Amino acid sequence: MKTLVVYYSLSGKDTESVASRIAKELNADIERIDTVTPYPDNYEAAVEQGKKEAESGFCPEIKPLSHDPADYDCIAVGTPTWWYTMAPAVLTFMRQTDFKGKTVIPFQTHAGQPGHAVSDIRKEAKGAMLFSGMRFEVGKLGVITPEKEIQDWIADIKKEVLA
Ligand SMILES: Cc1cc2nc3c(=O)[nH]c(=O)nc-3n(C[C@H](O)[C@H](O)[C@H](O)COP(=O)(O)O)c2cc1C
Repeated sequence: MKTLVVYYSLSGKDTESVASRIAKELNADIERIDTVTPYPDNYEAAVEQGKKEAESGFCPEIKPLSHDPADYDCIAVGTPTWWYTMAPAVLTFMRQTDFKGKTVIPFQTHAGQPGHAVSDIRKEAKGAMLFSGMRFEVGKLGVITPEKEIQDWIADIKKEVLA
């Protein structure tokens, strides 16, 4: 089972560190989604722009990926929560990828208000087999979701998807 972890991370911190861990534990390739037009450096301005985009279902143009999702049987899709849903760049990725016959494993990071990002990814993964998603709550010092919960989820992926 060939696995690719695809994620977006505005800061290059929370979702990136979670995605790296998952890729390492699943022995998977990894790719960060990047928008063609960067978001403002000012966090408040990025949050405001993100609000308009997330609420309108805007799909920003993203840079071409260096891994072709078509080459993989299993794709873990990771997003920070943006206004209770996935980041717009991840919506672009979901809309431009053919998931038929693949297994999709959604995960999100959030700061206490997870909203419905995981279920929104599931809805966009047309034709995929869906594995249960994981919500990683992040605080100032990193992930605060109990380690046991994360380990159980990863063990289940290994047992039920990759075995
Ligand atoms: C535009 C924007 C919207 C956000 N909306 C939410 C939200 O709805 N719920 C929440 O818990 N956190 C929200 N956050 C916080 C991020 O989800 C959280 O900090 C995440 O871990 C950041 O991931 P990153 O470091 O990979 O960019 C938002 C952040 C941004 C920039």
